[in-house]
Amino acid sequence: MFEGFCSGGIVKRAVAKGLVEVAVHNLRDFAAGKHRQVDDRPYGGDEGMVFKAEPVFAAVESVRASAGTPVVLLSPQGRVFDGRVAEELARHPQIVLICGRYEGVDERVAESLATDEISIGDYVLTGGELAAMVVIDATARFVPEVVGKAASVRHDSFVAGRLDYPHYTRPREFRGMKVPPVLFSGDHAKIEAWRRRKALEKTIRRRPDLIAASGLSPEERTLLEPTPNERKKR
Ligand code: ADE
Repeated sequence: MFEGFCSGGIVKRAVAKGLVEVAVHNLRDFAAGKHRQVDDRPYGGDEGMVFKAEPVFAAVESVRASAGTPVVLLSPQGRVFDGRVAEELARHPQIVLICGRYEGVDERVAESLATDEISIGDYVLTGGELAAMVVIDATARFVPEVVGKAASVRHDSFVAGRLDYPHYTRPREFRGMKVPPVLFSGDHAKIEAWRRRKALEKTIRRRPDLIAASGLSPEERTLLEPTPNERKKR
């Protein structure tokens, strides 16, 4: 599953530039016994299988570079991942991500091996791999020099708790749909104010939870005030 992910896009570029390294480890390589069994039936009876604690502990202890390395268990029970968590993870020289499968992972992994448990959203995936790739992609963007301009990462959606503003490119008119004229006004202050207002309006409409979490700043309140032109129309 990781092959395609690592052979394209941002991750490939970051790896090629030596900014990021992704190492995928097979739990089976850390399992004991002839059958290298990584899972077993759940105590108390239930359907499905549970990842055994021993191979997970052995794998993490073998790949972890220092005691300060965050060890993240990916599971729907974790705290919900967002841009802030990504930014925080990106500050560490190494992070270890544990991908669960089957019905779950022996709870002792969450209790005393993982330093963090992260969910990428309120749905259940069949395994933690996709979640790990989401975390790697979003976290790599905060590693200096991975994304062209550091400023563009900071301006992006969610870092500031606001959705992104609309983007346009040529042509100026497509199937009767026009690019807002302010964007070719050359007035950078005006463009910036328009973008911030559009971003804010979209956030209010689609993600009122983000507005509720931070409240509107006095500057944002000003941005939302009708322009003299809009006042005339009312
Ligand atoms: N594993 C299964 N579902 C998951 C989710 N929503 N987030 C992280 N890991 C998971």
